[in-house]
Amino acid sequence: MHQLIYVSPAVMNFAKPEFMELALHTGAENVKFGITGMLVFKNGSFMQVLEGNKETIKTLYAKIAVDPRHTLVS
Ligand SMILES: Cc1cc2nc3c(=O)[nH]c(=O)nc-3n(C[C@H](O)[C@H](O)[C@H](O)COP(=O)(O)O)c2cc1C
Repeated sequence: MHQLIYVSPAVMNFAKPEFMELALHTGAENVKFGITGMLVFKNGSFMQVLEGNKETIKTLYAKIAVDPRHTLVS
């Protein structure tokens, strides 16, 4: 099992409903691909843990990395 953890500053301010929508959507999507983990939003930044098949995580992270709602520190 592969694990990936990142922290990324959000581009906009996420209020609770917006974060809940993102968390519910990502959780439901990840279940379909056998990915588990968690997503946290605190003080303007996300912290996400992704666990599962290495290739699946790499593909998902490539998509997350270009999401304009946050900026990833490389
Ligand atoms: C902080 C953050 C974390 C995200 N995490 C996931 C995730 O774990 N799984 C997922 O499917 N999408 C996640 N997304 C959303 C993806 O970046 C992307 O918008 C989503 O996969 C839709 O892709 P699609 O247009 O190919 O359907 C996340 C977005 C942000 C901003």
